[in-house]
Amino acid sequence: MKTIWCGWLLVLSTIPLCAQQLTYYSDIKPILDRHCVECHSAGGAAPFELTSFEDVEKRADFIQVAVETRYMPPWFADTTFQTYHNQRGLSNAELKSIATWVGQGRRKGKATKTVEAKTASITWPKPDLVLPMQRPFLIPGDNTEQFRIFVIPSNSKEDLYIKGIDFRPGNAKLAHHARLMLDTTQMLRADDGAMAGDTATEFTRRNVQLAHAFWQGWVPGNFPVRYPEGIAKVLPKNTDIILNMHYSPTPQPAYDQSEIRLYLDKTPPKRPIHDLILDENWITNPPFVIPAGQVVKFYMRSPMAPADISLINVLPHMHLLGKASKPMPLRLRAKSFR
Ligand code: HEC
Repeated sequence: MKTIWCGWLLVLSTIPLCAQQLTYYSDIKPILDRHCVECHSAGGAAPFELTSFEDVEKRADFIQVAVETRYMPPWFADTTFQTYHNQRGLSNAELKSIATWVGQGRRKGKATKTVEAKTASITWPKPDLVLPMQRPFLIPGDNTEQFRIFVIPSNSKEDLYIKGIDFRPGNAKLAHHARLMLDTTQMLRADDGAMAGDTATEFTRRNVQLAHAFWQGWVPGNFPVRYPEGIAKVLPKNTDIILNMHYSPTPQPAYDQSEIRLYLDKTPPKRPIHDLILDENWITNPPFVIPAGQVVKFYMRSPMAPADISLINVLPHMHLLGKASKPMPLRLRAKSFR
């Protein structure tokens, strides 16, 4: 008899008589605005919008699963050992709010003007300098992959301090990836539109040494880059940006005129960004060969950091052959790493 009583008490205490009723407008929309609509809005990288009650309500179960499994928002880095400045992910309290809202029947609540305006205003600020390809390029509709070089003169008489970069493909359907390089010799201007790797290019004929072989990269789904306060890249005066475009094969000819949008700082950065390209020459256990059917680990050792540095970005480039990469500082003489 006693046991039955306990059971009843337990049941009674879990009846959500006075549980708070969550609504889309007051509890869910702020979470989605913070973590999802940068991609899930018109023109974003995701296939559908999550900006209205209707968008969200009809996919509520799906959303709950996507966030609880941590499939969304996408974040591929392992956060076991460390956190990142631009880390994505929902807090446990946010996950709980979504689950509770779904469980309570997905109430809409009341929209206020300020709440609505918040989503609508998710636009990037106006760039300070827009550098488009000099002319539109006609991607031939012959089902071949196209690797092309475009020369984009910056025409700047001063060094520019770049605090943000936004690469905008002109043809998002066919742009497979873009790589930006820097040339300060201006000898490559005749190569505008040339096939990358063509031996007839000025680049090959005159053996031009690029000022930078990988200044910036872009692949579909990438976002504009913004550097923290006081940190910037320097674009030397009179630089030509060399845009290396890879277009996917297409049976229909189509135009592209991609552009580079730059955000500028007026004063030189306190902490300039330097890039270090480690290619296969830096491998300490050559040869750089993976025999068929084998798993091989390669080690690379970068030059010593010249000063106290912060690592701002790591870009492992392994196509589908590499499974993981682990950059780590080696403690030689330094006392500590933060
Ligand atoms: C960085 C961009 C980005 C962010 C941020 C993002 N998504 Fe997505 N989402 C995508 C893309 C791209 C897809 C389609 C490809 C896929 O399913 O992996 C997608 C797919 C989905 C899907 C469908 C999954 C499936 O199995 O087809 C759901 C549901 C979803 N997102 C919900 C969310 C929610 C909720 C958030 C915020 C908590 C969010 N996403 C944040 C880019 C994003």
